[in-house]
Amino acid sequence: MDKYYYITTPIYYPSGKPHMGHAYSSIIADFFARFKRIQGYKVFYLTGTDEHGQKIQRAAEKKGIDPKSFCDEISKTFRNLSKLLNLSNDDFIRTTELRHAKSVENLWNILEDKNEIYLSKYSGWYSVSDEAFYSEDEIQEIDNKKTAKTSGSIVEWIEEESYFFRLSKWQEPLLKFYSENPKFILPESRKNEVISFVKSGLKDLSVSRKSFSWGIKVPSNKDHVIYVWLDALTNYLSALNYPHTNNDLYKNYWPADLHLIGKDILRFHAVYWPAFLLAANIPPPKRVYGHGWILSGEEKMSKSKGNILDPLEIIDNYGLDPLRYYLIKEVSFGNDGNISKDKLENCINSDLANNFGNLCQRVIAFTEKNLNLKIPKEYEFIEDDTRILNLYKSNINNLIDYIDNQNLNNYVNFIQDQLFSANKYFNDQEPWKKKSDLKRLNTIIYVSLELIRKISIMLYPIIPNTSLKVLKIFNIEEKDIDFNSIKSHNILKKNTNINKISILFKKIEKND
Ligand code: ME8
Ligand code: MG
Repeated sequence: MDKYYYITTPIYYPSGKPHMGHAYSSIIADFFARFKRIQGYKVFYLTGTDEHGQKIQRAAEKKGIDPKSFCDEISKTFRNLSKLLNLSNDDFIRTTELRHAKSVENLWNILEDKNEIYLSKYSGWYSVSDEAFYSEDEIQEIDNKKTAKTSGSIVEWIEEESYFFRLSKWQEPLLKFYSENPKFILPESRKNEVISFVKSGLKDLSVSRKSFSWGIKVPSNKDHVIYVWLDALTNYLSALNYPHTNNDLYKNYWPADLHLIGKDILRFHAVYWPAFLLAANIPPPKRVYGHGWILSGEEKMSKSKGNILDPLEIIDNYGLDPLRYYLIKEVSFGNDGNISKDKLENCINSDLANNFGNLCQRVIAFTEKNLNLKIPKEYEFIEDDTRILNLYKSNINNLIDYIDNQNLNNYVNFIQDQLFSANKYFNDQEPWKKKSDLKRLNTIIYVSLELIRKISIMLYPIIPNTSLKVLKIFNIEEKDIDFNSIKSHNILKKNTNINKISILFKKIEKND
Protein backbone atom coordinates (compact mmCIF):
# COMPACT_ATOMS: atom_id res chain seq x y z
CA MET A 1 0.00 0.00 0.00
CA ASP A 2 1.34 3.44 -0.93
CA LYS A 3 1.60 5.95 1.85
CA TYR A 4 0.84 9.60 1.18
CA TYR A 5 1.82 12.82 2.86
CA TYR A 6 0.49 16.29 2.09
CA ILE A 7 2.36 19.30 3.46
CA THR A 8 1.76 22.99 2.79
CA THR A 9 3.34 26.36 3.54
CA PRO A 10 1.26 29.50 3.85
CA ILE A 11 0.68 31.11 0.49
CA TYR A 12 2.54 34.37 0.80
CA TYR A 13 1.27 37.87 0.00
CA PRO A 14 3.13 39.16 -3.02
CA SER A 15 2.88 42.68 -1.63
CA GLY A 16 6.65 42.94 -1.42
CA LYS A 17 9.74 40.87 -2.05
CA PRO A 18 10.13 37.57 -0.20
CA HIS A 19 12.23 37.78 2.96
CA MET A 20 13.89 35.49 5.47
CA GLY A 21 10.60 34.74 7.27
CA HIS A 22 9.10 33.32 4.09
CA ALA A 23 12.29 31.44 3.33
CA TYR A 24 12.17 29.98 6.83
CA SER A 25 8.67 28.47 6.53
CA SER A 26 9.42 27.12 3.09
CA ILE A 27 12.75 25.56 4.10
CA ILE A 28 11.20 23.90 7.14
CA ALA A 29 8.36 22.53 5.03
CA ASP A 30 10.94 21.28 2.53
CA PHE A 31 12.75 19.53 5.34
CA PHE A 32 9.62 17.60 6.31
CA ALA A 33 8.72 16.88 2.69
CA ARG A 34 12.16 15.47 1.95
CA PHE A 35 12.21 13.43 5.11
CA LYS A 36 8.86 11.82 4.38
CA ARG A 37 9.97 11.06 0.82
CA ILE A 38 13.10 9.19 1.90
CA GLN A 39 10.96 7.45 4.49
CA GLY A 40 8.99 6.02 1.58
CA TYR A 41 5.97 8.31 1.39
CA LYS A 42 4.53 9.83 -1.76
CA VAL A 43 4.69 13.45 -0.80
CA PHE A 44 2.80 16.43 -2.15
CA TYR A 45 4.41 19.68 -1.06
CA LEU A 46 2.51 22.86 -1.88
CA THR A 47 3.47 26.51 -1.69
CA GLY A 48 2.34 29.61 -3.57
CA THR A 49 1.07 33.18 -3.41
CA ASP A 50 -2.06 34.78 -1.96
CA GLU A 51 -2.96 37.49 -4.43
CA HIS A 52 -6.38 38.93 -3.68
CA GLY A 53 -7.73 41.42 -1.19
CA GLN A 54 -7.39 45.01 -0.18
CA LYS A 55 -3.77 44.75 0.93
CA ILE A 56 -2.66 43.71 -2.55
CA GLN A 57 -5.05 46.11 -4.27
CA ARG A 58 -3.60 49.01 -2.29
CA ALA A 59 -0.01 47.91 -2.89
CA ALA A 60 -0.70 47.78 -6.63
CA GLU A 61 -2.43 51.18 -6.60
CA LYS A 62 0.56 52.67 -4.85
CA LYS A 63 2.71 51.51 -7.74
CA GLY A 64 0.13 52.64 -10.27
CA ILE A 65 -0.17 49.15 -11.76
CA ASP A 66 -3.24 46.97 -12.12
CA PRO A 67 -3.30 44.30 -9.42
CA LYS A 68 -2.96 41.34 -11.75
CA SER A 69 0.22 42.64 -13.41
CA PHE A 70 1.51 43.65 -10.01
CA CYS A 71 0.99 40.09 -8.72
CA ASP A 72 2.45 38.49 -11.85
CA GLU A 73 5.65 40.37 -11.23
CA ILE A 74 6.08 39.67 -7.53
CA SER A 75 4.70 36.15 -7.58
CA LYS A 76 7.55 35.36 -9.94
CA THR A 77 10.07 36.39 -7.30
CA PHE A 78 8.49 33.92 -4.87
CA ARG A 79 8.57 31.19 -7.48
CA ASN A 80 12.22 31.97 -8.17
CA LEU A 81 12.99 31.88 -4.49
CA SER A 82 11.61 28.33 -4.36
CA LYS A 83 14.26 27.37 -6.89
CA LEU A 84 17.03 29.22 -5.09
CA LEU A 85 16.10 27.54 -1.82
CA ASN A 86 16.13 24.17 -3.59
CA LEU A 87 12.57 23.50 -2.47
CA SER A 88 11.11 20.22 -3.62
CA ASN A 89 7.59 21.61 -3.93
CA ASP A 90 5.28 19.69 -6.24
CA ASP A 91 3.11 22.64 -7.14
CA PHE A 92 3.07 26.41 -6.80
CA ILE A 93 -0.42 27.82 -6.57
CA ARG A 94 -1.56 31.37 -7.26
CA THR A 95 -4.98 32.40 -6.06
CA THR A 96 -5.52 34.33 -9.29
CA GLU A 97 -5.61 31.05 -11.22
CA LEU A 98 -8.87 29.79 -12.64
CA ARG A 99 -8.57 26.40 -10.92
CA HIS A 100 -8.57 28.22 -7.61
CA ALA A 101 -11.52 30.51 -8.34
CA LYS A 102 -13.59 27.45 -9.23
CA SER A 103 -12.68 25.77 -6.02
CA VAL A 104 -13.49 28.82 -3.87
CA GLU A 105 -16.81 29.44 -5.65
CA ASN A 106 -17.75 25.84 -5.07
CA LEU A 107 -16.97 25.96 -1.38
CA TRP A 108 -18.89 29.22 -1.07
CA ASN A 109 -21.93 27.73 -2.80
CA ILE A 110 -21.93 24.74 -0.49
CA LEU A 111 -21.77 26.99 2.56
CA GLU A 112 -24.54 29.20 1.20
CA ASP A 113 -26.72 26.19 0.28
CA LYS A 114 -26.26 24.80 3.75
CA ASN A 115 -27.36 28.12 5.19
CA GLU A 116 -24.01 28.62 6.86
CA ILE A 117 -23.75 32.06 5.28
CA TYR A 118 -26.21 34.98 5.52
CA LEU A 119 -26.28 38.62 4.44
CA SER A 120 -26.11 41.37 7.07
CA LYS A 121 -24.02 44.40 7.88
CA TYR A 122 -20.53 44.62 9.38
CA SER A 123 -19.32 47.45 11.47
CA GLY A 124 -16.02 47.16 13.26
CA TRP A 125 -12.26 47.33 13.09
CA TYR A 126 -10.26 45.93 10.23
CA SER A 127 -6.54 45.71 9.58
CA VAL A 128 -5.71 45.69 5.90
CA SER A 129 -2.15 44.67 6.66
CA ASP A 130 -3.34 41.53 8.47
CA GLU A 131 -6.56 41.24 6.42
CA ALA A 132 -8.24 40.61 9.76
CA PHE A 133 -11.23 41.84 11.77
CA TYR A 134 -10.58 42.82 15.35
CA SER A 135 -12.93 43.30 18.26
CA GLU A 136 -12.75 46.34 20.54
CA ASP A 137 -10.72 44.49 23.19
CA GLU A 138 -8.16 43.31 20.63
CA ILE A 139 -7.07 46.83 19.74
CA GLN A 140 -5.10 49.50 21.52
CA GLU A 141 -4.48 53.19 21.02
CA ILE A 142 -0.90 54.47 20.88
CA ASP A 143 -0.04 58.04 19.81
CA ASN A 144 -3.58 58.56 18.58
CA LYS A 145 -3.28 55.53 16.35
CA LYS A 146 -5.47 52.50 16.78
CA THR A 147 -3.58 49.27 16.23
CA ALA A 148 -4.13 45.55 16.72
CA LYS A 149 -2.56 44.36 19.98
CA THR A 150 -1.17 41.15 18.47
CA SER A 151 0.43 42.46 15.30
CA GLY A 152 0.71 46.17 15.98
CA SER A 153 -0.76 46.96 12.58
CA ILE A 154 -3.09 49.92 12.00
CA VAL A 155 -6.82 49.20 12.10
CA GLU A 156 -9.52 51.18 10.35
CA TRP A 157 -13.23 51.35 11.01
CA ILE A 158 -15.42 49.78 8.37
CA GLU A 159 -19.16 49.70 8.00
CA GLU A 160 -20.68 47.90 5.08
CA GLU A 161 -23.09 45.26 3.92
CA SER A 162 -21.41 41.89 4.32
CA TYR A 163 -22.06 38.18 4.22
CA PHE A 164 -21.43 36.37 7.48
CA PHE A 165 -20.37 32.83 8.18
CA ARG A 166 -22.15 31.29 11.20
CA LEU A 167 -18.92 30.80 13.11
CA SER A 168 -20.68 31.03 16.48
CA LYS A 169 -22.54 27.83 15.70
CA TRP A 170 -19.21 25.99 15.38
CA GLN A 171 -17.78 26.91 18.74
CA GLU A 172 -18.79 23.67 20.47
CA PRO A 173 -18.04 21.38 17.50
CA LEU A 174 -14.58 22.97 17.26
CA LEU A 175 -13.87 22.42 20.94
CA LYS A 176 -14.98 18.83 20.53
CA PHE A 177 -12.76 18.49 17.47
CA TYR A 178 -9.73 19.83 19.37
CA SER A 179 -10.28 17.44 22.23
CA GLU A 180 -10.76 14.46 19.94
CA ASN A 181 -7.65 15.45 17.96
CA PRO A 182 -5.25 16.54 20.66
CA LYS A 183 -2.39 17.03 18.20
CA PHE A 184 -4.37 19.05 15.69
CA ILE A 185 -2.63 22.20 16.86
CA LEU A 186 1.04 22.13 17.75
CA PRO A 187 3.06 23.26 19.60
CA GLU A 188 1.06 22.66 22.76
CA SER A 189 1.37 26.26 24.01
CA ARG A 190 -0.29 27.58 20.86
CA LYS A 191 -3.04 25.02 21.13
CA ASN A 192 -3.93 26.37 24.54
CA GLU A 193 -4.10 29.91 23.15
CA VAL A 194 -6.48 28.80 20.44
CA ILE A 195 -8.70 26.84 22.79
CA SER A 196 -9.06 29.74 25.18
CA PHE A 197 -9.86 32.04 22.28
CA VAL A 198 -12.61 29.71 21.11
CA LYS A 199 -13.90 29.22 24.64
CA SER A 200 -14.12 32.97 25.12
CA GLY A 201 -16.91 32.94 22.53
CA LEU A 202 -16.96 33.00 18.74
CA LYS A 203 -18.91 35.63 16.85
CA ASP A 204 -20.11 35.15 13.30
CA LEU A 205 -17.40 36.05 10.83
CA SER A 206 -17.69 38.60 8.05
CA VAL A 207 -16.75 36.76 4.85
CA SER A 208 -17.30 39.28 2.09
CA ARG A 209 -16.40 42.88 1.32
CA LYS A 210 -18.13 45.40 -0.87
CA SER A 211 -15.90 48.46 -0.81
CA PHE A 212 -13.25 47.20 -3.23
CA SER A 213 -13.22 44.79 -6.12
CA TRP A 214 -9.93 42.83 -6.18
CA GLY A 215 -10.99 39.30 -5.36
CA ILE A 216 -13.26 36.42 -6.25
CA LYS A 217 -16.86 37.54 -6.57
CA VAL A 218 -19.62 36.02 -4.49
CA PRO A 219 -21.30 33.81 -7.11
CA SER A 220 -24.84 34.87 -6.20
CA ASN A 221 -24.06 38.57 -5.66
CA LYS A 222 -21.30 40.13 -7.75
CA ASP A 223 -21.26 43.32 -5.66
CA HIS A 224 -19.32 41.39 -3.06
CA VAL A 225 -15.86 39.89 -3.13
CA ILE A 226 -15.18 36.88 -0.97
CA TYR A 227 -13.13 37.59 2.15
CA VAL A 228 -9.50 37.04 1.23
CA TRP A 229 -8.91 34.50 4.02
CA LEU A 230 -11.78 32.26 2.91
CA ASP A 231 -10.33 32.60 -0.57
CA ALA A 232 -6.72 31.96 0.51
CA LEU A 233 -7.30 28.99 2.81
CA THR A 234 -9.12 27.17 0.05
CA ASN A 235 -5.86 27.02 -1.93
CA TYR A 236 -5.01 23.86 -0.01
CA LEU A 237 -7.99 22.18 -1.69
CA SER A 238 -7.63 23.84 -5.10
CA ALA A 239 -4.20 22.31 -5.62
CA LEU A 240 -5.78 18.85 -5.24
CA ASN A 241 -8.29 19.62 -8.00
CA TYR A 242 -11.15 20.27 -5.59
CA PRO A 243 -14.13 20.35 -6.24
CA HIS A 244 -13.35 17.18 -8.19
CA THR A 245 -13.13 14.98 -5.15
CA ASN A 246 -13.02 11.87 -7.24
CA ASN A 247 -9.52 12.39 -8.57
CA ASP A 248 -6.35 10.77 -7.29
CA LEU A 249 -4.80 13.91 -5.89
CA TYR A 250 -7.76 14.68 -3.69
CA LYS A 251 -8.36 11.06 -2.74
CA ASN A 252 -4.75 10.42 -1.81
CA TYR A 253 -3.83 13.68 -0.17
CA TRP A 254 -6.85 15.16 1.56
CA PRO A 255 -7.06 15.72 4.52
CA ALA A 256 -3.66 17.44 4.60
CA ASP A 257 -1.14 15.98 7.01
CA LEU A 258 0.47 19.27 7.92
CA HIS A 259 -0.24 22.93 7.37
CA LEU A 260 3.01 24.54 8.43
CA ILE A 261 2.49 28.20 9.24
CA GLY A 262 3.81 31.03 11.40
CA LYS A 263 2.06 31.76 14.67
CA ASP A 264 0.76 35.05 13.23
CA ILE A 265 -1.86 33.23 11.21
CA LEU A 266 -2.81 30.49 13.62
CA ARG A 267 -6.35 31.68 14.23
CA PHE A 268 -7.19 31.52 10.55
CA HIS A 269 -5.84 27.99 10.21
CA ALA A 270 -6.86 26.50 13.52
CA VAL A 271 -10.28 28.14 13.98
CA TYR A 272 -11.76 29.52 10.78
CA TRP A 273 -10.42 26.89 8.41
CA PRO A 274 -11.66 23.79 10.29
CA ALA A 275 -14.96 25.60 10.92
CA PHE A 276 -15.47 26.28 7.18
CA LEU A 277 -14.60 22.67 6.41
CA LEU A 278 -16.77 21.14 9.10
CA ALA A 279 -19.65 23.32 7.89
CA ALA A 280 -19.08 22.14 4.31
CA ASN A 281 -18.77 18.55 5.48
CA ILE A 282 -15.16 18.26 4.33
CA PRO A 283 -12.69 16.62 6.73
CA PRO A 284 -10.37 19.15 8.38
CA PRO A 285 -6.58 18.85 8.05
CA LYS A 286 -4.74 16.58 10.47
CA ARG A 287 -2.37 19.13 11.84
CA VAL A 288 -1.60 22.82 11.98
CA TYR A 289 1.84 23.71 13.31
CA GLY A 290 2.43 27.37 14.16
CA HIS A 291 6.15 28.05 14.30
CA GLY A 292 7.76 31.11 15.86
CA TRP A 293 9.13 34.22 14.26
CA ILE A 294 12.51 35.05 12.91
CA LEU A 295 13.40 38.21 14.74
CA SER A 296 15.57 41.05 13.70
CA GLY A 297 16.73 42.57 16.96
CA GLU A 298 13.66 42.25 19.17
CA GLU A 299 11.11 42.66 16.42
CA LYS A 300 9.41 40.32 14.01
CA MET A 301 11.06 40.55 10.64
CA SER A 302 8.42 41.79 8.25
CA LYS A 303 7.85 43.81 5.13
CA SER A 304 5.74 46.35 6.96
CA LYS A 305 8.49 46.87 9.56
CA GLY A 306 11.20 47.22 6.92
CA ASN A 307 13.77 45.25 8.94
CA ILE A 308 14.27 42.37 6.59
CA LEU A 309 17.32 40.21 6.06
CA ASP A 310 17.56 39.26 2.43
CA PRO A 311 17.88 35.50 1.93
CA LEU A 312 19.36 36.05 -1.53
CA GLU A 313 22.20 38.07 -0.11
CA ILE A 314 22.94 35.38 2.49
CA ILE A 315 22.88 32.67 -0.16
CA ASP A 316 25.20 34.71 -2.36
CA ASN A 317 27.68 35.19 0.45
CA TYR A 318 27.53 31.86 2.24
CA GLY A 319 25.74 29.38 0.00
CA LEU A 320 22.34 27.77 0.32
CA ASP A 321 23.04 24.73 2.47
CA PRO A 322 24.67 26.75 5.26
CA LEU A 323 21.55 28.92 5.36
CA ARG A 324 19.25 25.90 5.44
CA TYR A 325 21.30 24.20 8.12
CA TYR A 326 21.49 27.34 10.18
CA LEU A 327 17.77 28.10 10.11
CA ILE A 328 16.84 24.53 10.92
CA LYS A 329 19.41 24.03 13.64
CA GLU A 330 19.79 27.39 15.28
CA VAL A 331 16.19 28.57 15.62
CA SER A 332 14.57 26.51 18.35
CA PHE A 333 11.60 25.22 16.41
CA GLY A 334 8.28 26.54 17.64
CA ASN A 335 9.87 29.54 19.34
CA ASP A 336 11.01 32.90 18.09
CA GLY A 337 14.63 33.09 17.09
CA ASN A 338 17.10 35.85 16.56
CA ILE A 339 19.42 35.29 13.63
CA SER A 340 22.73 36.92 12.89
CA LYS A 341 25.57 36.59 10.44
CA ASP A 342 27.94 36.00 13.31
CA LYS A 343 26.03 32.92 14.50
CA LEU A 344 25.69 31.72 10.92
CA GLU A 345 29.45 31.90 10.48
CA ASN A 346 30.08 29.97 13.69
CA CYS A 347 27.67 27.34 12.53
CA ILE A 348 29.46 26.97 9.20
CA ASN A 349 32.87 26.76 10.81
CA SER A 350 32.10 24.36 13.60
CA ASP A 351 29.24 22.11 12.51
CA LEU A 352 29.58 22.07 8.78
CA ALA A 353 33.24 22.61 7.98
CA ASN A 354 34.77 20.94 11.06
CA ASN A 355 32.42 18.26 12.21
CA PHE A 356 30.97 17.13 8.91
CA GLY A 357 33.33 18.35 6.18
CA ASN A 358 36.53 17.31 7.91
CA LEU A 359 35.18 13.92 8.88
CA CYS A 360 34.41 13.14 5.25
CA GLN A 361 37.76 14.42 3.99
CA ARG A 362 39.83 12.63 6.62
CA VAL A 363 38.16 9.28 6.17
CA ILE A 364 38.35 9.43 2.41
CA ALA A 365 41.96 10.56 2.40
CA PHE A 366 42.78 7.71 4.73
CA THR A 367 40.91 5.21 2.56
CA GLU A 368 42.76 6.48 -0.47
CA LYS A 369 46.13 6.14 1.15
CA ASN A 370 45.58 2.73 2.64
CA LEU A 371 43.05 1.00 0.43
CA ASN A 372 43.34 2.86 -2.83
CA LEU A 373 39.76 4.13 -2.48
CA LYS A 374 38.21 0.70 -2.07
CA ILE A 375 35.66 -0.35 0.45
CA PRO A 376 37.37 -2.94 2.65
CA LYS A 377 37.05 -6.55 1.67
CA GLU A 378 37.56 -8.03 5.07
CA TYR A 379 36.42 -6.59 8.34
CA GLU A 380 35.14 -7.78 11.63
CA PHE A 381 33.22 -5.66 14.09
CA ILE A 382 34.25 -5.55 17.71
CA GLU A 383 32.19 -4.02 20.46
CA ASP A 384 33.50 -0.48 19.86
CA ASP A 385 32.09 -0.75 16.35
CA THR A 386 28.72 -2.30 17.03
CA ARG A 387 28.10 0.08 19.89
CA ILE A 388 28.27 3.10 17.62
CA LEU A 389 26.64 1.47 14.61
CA ASN A 390 23.72 0.15 16.62
CA LEU A 391 22.80 3.60 17.85
CA TYR A 392 21.11 4.24 14.53
CA LYS A 393 19.07 1.09 14.67
CA SER A 394 18.00 1.71 18.23
CA ASN A 395 17.06 5.33 17.52
CA ILE A 396 15.39 5.09 14.15
CA ASN A 397 11.89 4.93 15.55
CA ASN A 398 12.58 7.87 17.81
CA LEU A 399 13.80 9.86 14.83
CA ILE A 400 10.65 9.10 12.86
CA ASP A 401 8.59 9.99 15.86
CA TYR A 402 10.39 13.32 16.23
CA ILE A 403 9.53 14.16 12.65
CA ASP A 404 5.92 13.09 12.98
CA ASN A 405 5.58 15.40 15.96
CA GLN A 406 7.55 18.19 14.29
CA ASN A 407 10.15 17.84 17.00
CA LEU A 408 12.84 19.20 14.79
CA ASN A 409 15.26 20.10 17.55
CA ASN A 410 15.56 16.52 18.77
CA TYR A 411 16.17 15.30 15.25
CA VAL A 412 18.97 17.80 14.74
CA ASN A 413 20.44 17.10 18.17
CA PHE A 414 20.70 13.44 17.31
CA ILE A 415 22.64 14.27 14.16
CA GLN A 416 24.95 16.57 16.05
CA ASP A 417 25.62 13.92 18.65
CA GLN A 418 26.34 11.38 15.95
CA LEU A 419 28.70 13.74 14.16
CA PHE A 420 30.55 14.24 17.38
CA SER A 421 30.66 10.48 18.06
CA ALA A 422 31.81 9.64 14.55
CA ASN A 423 34.72 12.07 14.81
CA LYS A 424 35.56 10.76 18.25
CA TYR A 425 35.42 7.18 17.00
CA PHE A 426 37.90 7.89 14.19
CA ASN A 427 40.25 9.72 16.57
CA ASP A 428 40.04 7.19 19.38
CA GLN A 429 40.48 4.18 17.13
CA GLU A 430 43.66 5.66 15.68
CA PRO A 431 43.57 3.65 12.47
CA TRP A 432 46.91 5.20 11.44
CA LYS A 433 48.53 3.14 14.19
CA LYS A 434 47.02 -0.10 12.94
CA LYS A 435 49.24 -0.71 9.92
CA SER A 436 50.31 -4.04 11.38
CA ASP A 437 46.73 -5.19 12.00
CA LEU A 438 45.15 -4.79 8.62
CA LYS A 439 41.86 -6.36 9.58
CA ARG A 440 41.39 -3.83 12.35
CA LEU A 441 42.45 -1.00 10.06
CA ASN A 442 39.96 -2.17 7.44
CA THR A 443 37.20 -2.45 9.99
CA ILE A 444 37.73 1.07 11.25
CA ILE A 445 37.59 2.35 7.69
CA TYR A 446 34.44 0.38 7.00
CA VAL A 447 32.72 1.64 10.12
CA SER A 448 33.77 5.23 9.45
CA LEU A 449 32.47 5.10 5.90
CA GLU A 450 29.28 3.55 7.15
CA LEU A 451 28.85 6.35 9.68
CA ILE A 452 29.34 8.93 6.95
CA ARG A 453 26.68 7.21 4.88
CA LYS A 454 24.17 7.19 7.73
CA ILE A 455 24.83 10.77 8.76
CA SER A 456 24.57 12.01 5.18
CA ILE A 457 21.19 10.35 4.83
CA MET A 458 19.96 11.96 8.02
CA LEU A 459 21.28 15.29 6.75
CA TYR A 460 19.60 14.97 3.38
CA PRO A 461 16.38 16.76 4.36
CA ILE A 462 18.39 19.62 5.86
CA ILE A 463 21.19 20.13 3.33
CA PRO A 464 20.15 18.11 0.30
CA ASN A 465 22.86 19.35 -2.08
CA THR A 466 25.71 18.61 0.27
CA SER A 467 24.23 15.29 1.31
CA LEU A 468 23.98 14.20 -2.32
CA LYS A 469 27.53 15.28 -2.91
CA VAL A 470 28.72 13.10 -0.03
CA LEU A 471 26.54 10.16 -0.99
CA LYS A 472 28.24 10.27 -4.39
CA ILE A 473 31.22 8.78 -2.56
CA PHE A 474 29.18 5.58 -2.48
CA ASN A 475 27.40 6.13 -5.81
CA ILE A 476 24.12 6.59 -3.97
CA GLU A 477 21.75 8.79 -5.95
CA GLU A 478 18.80 10.82 -4.76
CA LYS A 479 16.20 8.28 -5.85
CA ASP A 480 18.02 5.55 -3.94
CA ILE A 481 18.10 7.28 -0.57
CA ASP A 482 16.23 5.21 1.94
CA PHE A 483 15.97 6.47 5.47
CA ASN A 484 15.35 2.97 6.77
CA SER A 485 18.76 1.91 5.53
CA ILE A 486 20.44 3.79 8.38
CA LYS A 487 19.75 0.80 10.58
CA SER A 488 21.72 -1.63 8.40
CA HIS A 489 25.50 -1.95 8.57
CA ASN A 490 26.14 -3.96 5.46
CA ILE A 491 24.96 -1.69 2.69
CA LEU A 492 28.39 -0.67 1.44
CA LYS A 493 29.60 -3.29 -1.02
CA LYS A 494 32.92 -4.89 -0.17
CA ASN A 495 35.82 -4.17 -2.46
CA THR A 496 33.96 -1.62 -4.61
CA ASN A 497 35.34 1.80 -5.40
CA ILE A 498 34.45 4.95 -3.59
CA ASN A 499 34.72 8.39 -5.11
CA LYS A 500 36.67 11.36 -3.89
CA ILE A 501 34.82 14.61 -3.26
CA SER A 502 35.89 18.22 -3.19
CA ILE A 503 35.86 20.38 -0.06
CA LEU A 504 32.29 20.64 1.27
CA PHE A 505 32.43 23.89 3.21
CA LYS A 506 35.05 26.59 3.29
CA LYS A 507 35.85 27.94 6.71
CA ILE A 508 35.11 31.59 7.23
CA GLU A 509 37.91 33.78 8.48
CA LYS A 510 36.82 35.59 11.59
CA ASN A 511 38.66 38.51 13.09
CA ASP A 512 37.60 38.14 16.70
O1 ME8 B 1 -0.12 35.78 6.09
N1 ME8 B 1 9.44 34.75 10.87
O2 ME8 B 1 1.03 35.90 4.09
P1 ME8 B 1 2.40 36.59 4.54
C1 ME8 B 1 8.99 33.54 10.54
N2 ME8 B 1 -1.14 35.35 2.76
N3 ME8 B 1 8.09 33.33 9.58
C2 ME8 B 1 7.62 34.40 8.92
C3 ME8 B 1 8.05 35.71 9.22
C4 ME8 B 1 9.02 35.85 10.25
N4 ME8 B 1 9.51 37.03 10.60
N5 ME8 B 1 7.40 36.56 8.41
C5 ME8 B 1 6.61 35.80 7.61
C6 ME8 B 1 -0.06 35.65 4.89
N6 ME8 B 1 6.74 34.50 7.92
C7 ME8 B 1 -1.22 35.03 4.13
C8 ME8 B 1 -1.22 33.53 4.36
S1 ME8 B 1 -2.26 31.08 4.00
C9 ME8 B 1 -3.70 30.46 3.48
C10 ME8 B 1 -2.36 32.80 3.72
C11 ME8 B 1 6.07 33.37 7.28
O3 ME8 B 1 3.11 36.94 3.28
C12 ME8 B 1 5.20 32.63 8.28
O4 ME8 B 1 4.92 31.34 7.77
O5 ME8 B 1 2.17 37.64 5.53
C13 ME8 B 1 3.94 33.46 8.26
O6 ME8 B 1 2.83 32.76 8.76
C14 ME8 B 1 3.81 33.73 6.78
O7 ME8 B 1 5.17 33.90 6.32
C15 ME8 B 1 2.99 34.96 6.49
O8 ME8 B 1 3.22 35.37 5.18
MG1 MG C 1 2.00 38.89 7.18
